[in-house]
Amino acid sequence: MQTVSTVKELRERLRTERAEGKRIALVPTMGNLHQGHLRLVEKAVANADFVVASIFVNPLQFGPQEDLERYPRTLAQDQAQLRAFGCDLLFAPSEQEIYPQGRDGQTFVEVPAISDLYCGATRPGHFRGVTTIVNKLFNLIQPDVAVFGRKDYQQLHVITRMVEDLSMPVQLIGVGTERAENGLALSSRNGYLTDAELAVAPRLYATISDMASTLKSGGQSHANLIEKAQQSLERAGFLRDYIHILRRSDMLTAGPEDRNLVIIAAAYLGAARLIDNIEVDL
Ligand code: PAF
Repeated sequence: MQTVSTVKELRERLRTERAEGKRIALVPTMGNLHQGHLRLVEKAVANADFVVASIFVNPLQFGPQEDLERYPRTLAQDQAQLRAFGCDLLFAPSEQEIYPQGRDGQTFVEVPAISDLYCGATRPGHFRGVTTIVNKLFNLIQPDVAVFGRKDYQQLHVITRMVEDLSMPVQLIGVGTERAENGLALSSRNGYLTDAELAVAPRLYATISDMASTLKSGGQSHANLIEKAQQSLERAGFLRDYIHILRRSDMLTAGPEDRNLVIIAAAYLGAARLIDNIEVDL
């Protein structure tokens, strides 16, 4: 596996692969790879002839008070894992290479409305940063297929909207969340948790799984169910961010008549903000 850090090298290498008629897959990441990312690489390998991963801790998707500076950067370890899982090319650019006009001079891509809800309400500008970098990576790599994790459920929805709205010629594949045995969704930010917090963290998924079971049995209003879940998380030591019961089709608030749902949740635990989701079919 070759690692390139400049746009010039990236384009030169991909020109050769494309000329040979290869189907190219992209796995965009911010590095500090765990088993969840490696599942994305496996999916990419199964769906393409040539797999490109990117590692770029994208400053545009972090708020001013967020963890940009301390976000874990583990390039050598990531390279070894990507190589072992069959990735062909790693693009690991500097910030200057990606945003030569600086963070404030950059042209943005923004999906309206949905980008301001849920994670977008807690993290203003976050999805604008995500769609801008993903659009840029799509333009640089021109993948036939791009693979994303379903743990970031809203992110995948927003990127799907961007691809549809801008008629981008790329197939998106979503891969199910990789979990520890206790149910905790794998995330680079789990590294911020203490041992005591790690013991509590699986409660987030347990709580939304309980909500899913209750929804299937019926008889409780969504608002009631959400409030009980919030209180149970608070008793366990979490601080509230949000829990929503949404229609899967448009990620807007579900009514009692809706059948294909997703519960999305975000909560603070110590220095980490954890997110998770579960799909529910009634
Ligand atoms: O999911 C992530 O790791 C990031 O949001 C992404 C898609 C790589 C864009 O920076």
